[in-house]
Amino acid sequence: MQDVALSSSFTLTDVPGGLPWLGHLRSFKHRPLRAMSEWWRQYGDALRFRLGPKTVHLFSHPALAENVLLSQAERFGKVYEQQRPTGLALVLGNGLVTSSGEVWKRHRRIIQPVFHRSRMAAMADRMVEVGAQRLAGWAAHGERPVDIAAEMMQLTLEVISQTMFHTSVAQHMDQISHSLRVSLKYAFDSFHNPLHLPAWVPTARNREFGRALQFMDTLIYELVAARRQSGAQYDDLLNLLLQARDEETGMGLSDQELRDEALTIFAAGHETTANALSWTWYLLATHPEVKTRFHREVDGVLHGRPPTADDLHHLPYTRAIFDESLRLYPPVPAIQRKTLSPTTLCGITLPANAIVLVGLYNLHRHPEFWSDPDTFLPERWLDGERPPVRCAYLPFGMGPRACVGTHFATVEGPLLLALIGQRYDPQLAQDTVEPEVMVTLRPKNGIRMTLQPRHRSVLAG
Ligand code: HEM
Repeated sequence: MQDVALSSSFTLTDVPGGLPWLGHLRSFKHRPLRAMSEWWRQYGDALRFRLGPKTVHLFSHPALAENVLLSQAERFGKVYEQQRPTGLALVLGNGLVTSSGEVWKRHRRIIQPVFHRSRMAAMADRMVEVGAQRLAGWAAHGERPVDIAAEMMQLTLEVISQTMFHTSVAQHMDQISHSLRVSLKYAFDSFHNPLHLPAWVPTARNREFGRALQFMDTLIYELVAARRQSGAQYDDLLNLLLQARDEETGMGLSDQELRDEALTIFAAGHETTANALSWTWYLLATHPEVKTRFHREVDGVLHGRPPTADDLHHLPYTRAIFDESLRLYPPVPAIQRKTLSPTTLCGITLPANAIVLVGLYNLHRHPEFWSDPDTFLPERWLDGERPPVRCAYLPFGMGPRACVGTHFATVEGPLLLALIGQRYDPQLAQDTVEPEVMVTLRPKNGIRMTLQPRHRSVLAG
């Protein structure tokens, strides 16, 4: 892998056309992904735009990403404040995604071991069991199109709750999906829209958000209470959270801390992978030659039996499909930070508290670093062809705040693809699919697909 020239120099370009008070809010609010992508193509790798009173810097070059996330990471903090929660912090409180400083450091130390590679084989078996259970219901859909994005959400939600909390949430599925959708949309709007009314104003939207939050709080608190009452000792995340003790004070996590971390893993641990899988089914359905090679690999390696973590070594094309899908549709399309003090990177000087977006969606399609950047080409990942330069491919972020669930997701994604792909061939039942950003990059209004069974003999087995 080539090292990108970290000394590259950039000049900030102001996106033209901002209105006096609103700035570029209108275009951004309606289609944030399109706005970020078009502005980047027109005005370059380092640009600046305004959302009401906020000035936002969009960086879409590996050298800039490297500075923000890695080499100068200590100068760039998360944008959330515990005292005045906005955006995701309204939902996730002070959990691993939204916290900073000592709390984050301590909680990352507690949580990280659950994702250690050595635990992945056992988790992989659980992932496949959950997948097989859900697939058992697919035959009932017959020829009727279903929303594959909703299916993937429910599947990954059940995977996360069974692997991390040893609990099934199957009976609450619809309500959990609804509550998370409502709250993530609310969180996203509240952060970017200066016209957003604070949560205490009794609007219909605020009340809906309140109900969604209340439902999820109750769910998590019941889960914790049930575990405490049963005294069961599982080797899972909930156990680690309940057993954690502060090295100095010997104190455990408070109920609020437990709630924030549990909800964070629930949300961060299923939304992202579900979106990645949904985009992958869409890409496979629209690229028949890739799908044929995928089927050949999966059938040839598995011969109809369920996949295991070990099989992943023999499924390079399946893994390449997942990697390539994460390139074209990164579930986290931009990583947000703010400068903690005045900072200079690659010739650009930013004041303190400047908001920065590292545009992963743009980085992953940068024509300087990828050949045929907009084409779905899993082959580019084979034969050890890793990303062309460091930081041109960052679906899981980089540096100290990189995704804690990277191994988990890179096992779960290809395993579920292989499991489903050997039994079903989802066919697109709509003409176009539009991406939408709601914290994560989702297919707007889902993706309607028919679930075409592949080999009757495999299904019967
Ligand atoms: C394809 C799936 C996934 C993608 C693309 C993804 C992407 C990311 C990215 C880009 C970040 C960094 C955000 C930043 O720097 O601000 C992140 C952080 C995080 N992710 Fe993931 N993620 C995925 C799956 C998961 C899973 C399965 C889990 C847990 C089971 C998880 C839990 C987290 C947590 C807790 C953080 C915050 C880490 C910290 O700040 O210390 N993610 N993820």
